[in-house]
Amino acid sequence: MRYLKSIVCGLSLLAAVSCGNGGEQSASCGNGCSADTGECTAAECTEGCSGKADGNAVIENIMSRRSIRKYKNEPVAREVMQEIALCGINAPNGQNKQSWEVRIVDNSELQNEIKAVMAAAGGERAAGCFYNAPVWVFIARDNSYDFSTIDCGLLAENMMLSAHSLGVGSVCLGSPVRFILTSPRKDEVLSKLGFSEGYELCLCVAFGYPDEAPAAKPRDINKVKFID
Ligand SMILES: Cc1cc2nc3c(=O)[nH]c(=O)nc-3n(C[C@H](O)[C@H](O)[C@H](O)COP(=O)(O)O)c2cc1C
Repeated sequence: MRYLKSIVCGLSLLAAVSCGNGGEQSASCGNGCSADTGECTAAECTEGCSGKADGNAVIENIMSRRSIRKYKNEPVAREVMQEIALCGINAPNGQNKQSWEVRIVDNSELQNEIKAVMAAAGGERAAGCFYNAPVWVFIARDNSYDFSTIDCGLLAENMMLSAHSLGVGSVCLGSPVRFILTSPRKDEVLSKLGFSEGYELCLCVAFGYPDEAPAAKPRDINKVKFID
């Protein structure tokens, strides 16, 4: 429990920074409690921030998002995915090059074809790597731009956070990229996804309505330091 509090406190660093309390020491929350002692909760951390972070919907959303690996057998409406994608493409991106392309696959027939291609590379494990989520998103990077992987990561995070705010769960996935790109049948998938010339698949995200509520995994706030 103490550890969990420490994690939450660590994740609250954003709140501490935004209220200007974080300039002097590392891993310090708004009310002076410290991740080193782990004796604070998110609420305690944010309470010290003169009300700015307390009840802040964006911070709440960031702090409560977790990777979902169990989904309800329920589709996500295309209008909802459209909204989520719109949030994705509004992410910051280098020189506004929008060095990404996104493909949303909610058709179970096509998903089964992709599964078979992945299974050709990684067997059963590969076939299950989308956790039966109803929506699979494939993100490709413009390989002529050195920061395009970062652009794609920011796009994916915007999609996952906006999804979470709408009650839609998600998990960012690297393994399908590996399974697809190492499959002897990879061209079958890539031609279906139809990315433009010069774009290469770099990330996937699964979306669907959550059928689990996992706890936060530990974060190491010591990775973050203020330098005087
Ligand atoms: C680049 C990247 C690749 C990931 N690949 C996978 C994956 O292949 N399978 C999986 O189950 N989770 C994957 N994840 C999810 C992470 O395991 C997860 O974000 C991390 O454990 C922290 O948990 P949280 O998202 O619940 O906070 C990936 C996350 C990222 C950012």
